[in-house]
Amino acid sequence: MKRFKYDNDVILAPMVRMGTLPFRLLCLDYGCDIAYSEEIVDTKLLQCRRVENPVFGTIDYVHTDGEIIFRTHPDEAERVVLQIGTAVPEQAAAVAAMMERDIAGLDINMGCPKDYSVKGGMGAALLKNPELIEQILRQCRAVFSKSLTCKIRLLPRMEDTLELVKRIETTGVDALAVHGRTKEERPRHVNNCEAIRIIASTISIPVIANGGSADVHSYEDIEKFRLACGASSVMLARAVQRNPSLFRKEGQLPREQMISDYMKKAIDFDCSYRNTKYAIQQLFGDTSTPRGQQFLATRDFREICEIFHYEKYYDEQIRLRGRDPNDQSLEDRG
Ligand code: FNR
Repeated sequence: MKRFKYDNDVILAPMVRMGTLPFRLLCLDYGCDIAYSEEIVDTKLLQCRRVENPVFGTIDYVHTDGEIIFRTHPDEAERVVLQIGTAVPEQAAAVAAMMERDIAGLDINMGCPKDYSVKGGMGAALLKNPELIEQILRQCRAVFSKSLTCKIRLLPRMEDTLELVKRIETTGVDALAVHGRTKEERPRHVNNCEAIRIIASTISIPVIANGGSADVHSYEDIEKFRLACGASSVMLARAVQRNPSLFRKEGQLPREQMISDYMKKAIDFDCSYRNTKYAIQQLFGDTSTPRGQQFLATRDFREICEIFHYEKYYDEQIRLRGRDPNDQSLEDRG
């Protein structure tokens, strides 16, 4: 089974709300090598059934309440990594086994400091429990033959961090992503590239450096960040949330172009109004302009389309799907 080597790869980091199918495909089109999904909690996925959707050519994991929890498309099949939140090895392994055919890799979130994660014992809460980390990774490895990674933050003490990463290495993961901040540190704090460098020189599996967005303003900066961390690959979140064309070797694109490219994919894959608005708001940057204000005032998907001159295309697509473009009640499924 083919697995990623994580050798000089440039990766879209997992981002809740942002890392859904349209944005992942956009980033892959622009040149990123691997696209991580937003974090999805294991229990939610385990309540889903798999549906091959002929309307969009997608594979959907649909919750019992009808919500699409994970949507993927053959165009990303070789390059998409699903990130899950978990605190239960058996559940993580059940997700791994259930989803293996539709994803190129699986990642376990061990860095999220948000309350909803930590309270459930997931995300950064796992960092305090190396035994559980080991069990989760071993049980996933036993049933999952594709790329397996986890994404951690630094522990307050470097000795503890090194002990943890050595333990993670023994589980058979293909790579380790390291955000160079502790659970308590916020994005304004300096990312600890030196700590990532020490980790990379301590273990022999590839290390994916993360946390460097503040210093990434060009394609060349991505490689500078990798070298500063002595890492094998780089994973980017905030920098590409604002400007996914940073993934382009050929150079960056104007905002209008990126928004237009995103908009088309959001229509093609029936992205929800709320998600589309959130993603475009990030791409928009400054919304204090008259156009920005007009955008913020939109109340449904079609109104967003109107701002970016996509209403004709949207109406055509909606009619092809046998729906009425003026019926907005159908579109917002969260
Ligand atoms: C994140 N981050 C994050 N991390 C994770 O492991 N799973 C997730 O679902 C999310 N969600 C998320 C949403 C948004 C909007 C942001 C900005 C960030 C953290 C992210 O992957 C990354 O670790 C940090 O943002 C640091 O990397 P950058 O931004 O400096 O490249």
